[in-house]
Amino acid sequence: MTPSAAQPQVVVLNGPDEVAARAAHEFAARARAAISQRNCFAVALSGGKTPTRSFELLASPRVAGKIEWPRVHFFWGDERCVPPDDPASNYGQARMALLDPIRAQDKSIHRMRGELEPREGARDYTALLSRFFGGGPIFDLVYLGLGPDGHTASLFPHSHSLEETSSSCIASHVPGNAVPWRLTLTYPALNAARAVVFLVTGADKSDVLHRVLEGPRDPASLPAQRIAPSEGALIWLVDRAAAAHLQAHA
Ligand code: 6PG
Repeated sequence: MTPSAAQPQVVVLNGPDEVAARAAHEFAARARAAISQRNCFAVALSGGKTPTRSFELLASPRVAGKIEWPRVHFFWGDERCVPPDDPASNYGQARMALLDPIRAQDKSIHRMRGELEPREGARDYTALLSRFFGGGPIFDLVYLGLGPDGHTASLFPHSHSLEETSSSCIASHVPGNAVPWRLTLTYPALNAARAVVFLVTGADKSDVLHRVLEGPRDPASLPAQRIAPSEGALIWLVDRAAAAHLQAHA
């Protein structure tokens, strides 16, 4: 019988700094456990503005010294189809805030190649994941954000990427977006993770967070609703501003 997905754990914290601190704590704790059990910690980072503070905390001397970085392998939940040195690159953002400060080794960095033709980039990343994991990916930790329209990673409302059930990575066209082509992990890849941690802060997310967590189930319109690790933990780290409309978790 397929195990039912774990109930989401919603943690309401004072503000963005507390969310970042708790995110860094989750990273460090899960890295220690994974490295002691499997000598490796595979983490998928998200893009957007929210994770930057937690990246900077992880790179701070107080935290960085507690993590065995050579055993940490960095992946991405999604990427914009731009070169790695483009300001819009999620890899480039993590490079500046975390990878360079901790002197991450090239062999530990597995970026999505946004410079390729999108479908080729998706095939390339699916193959990379298959080689690394010896099959479908099982990340120890996936960080995700939540867009105002309910998207997560680059799984956008009513997009064909929501229906992908075999490839781990797919090219997603987002009409009207400044960077219209994206690469994104798919639901099978995300929901196989041992832990998925959403970081959601700010009053501008209060409405969508309420709809995703407490509104009618409508994953085609709110793709974040279909994030449900089959055997892993699902944790929402949110601040009070984002949680303002939550009934059950106020
Ligand atoms: C991206 C992200 C995207 C992001 C949300 C929230 O590449 O932009 O992966 O899914 O997490 O849009 O973004 P903010 O953290 O900037 O609100």
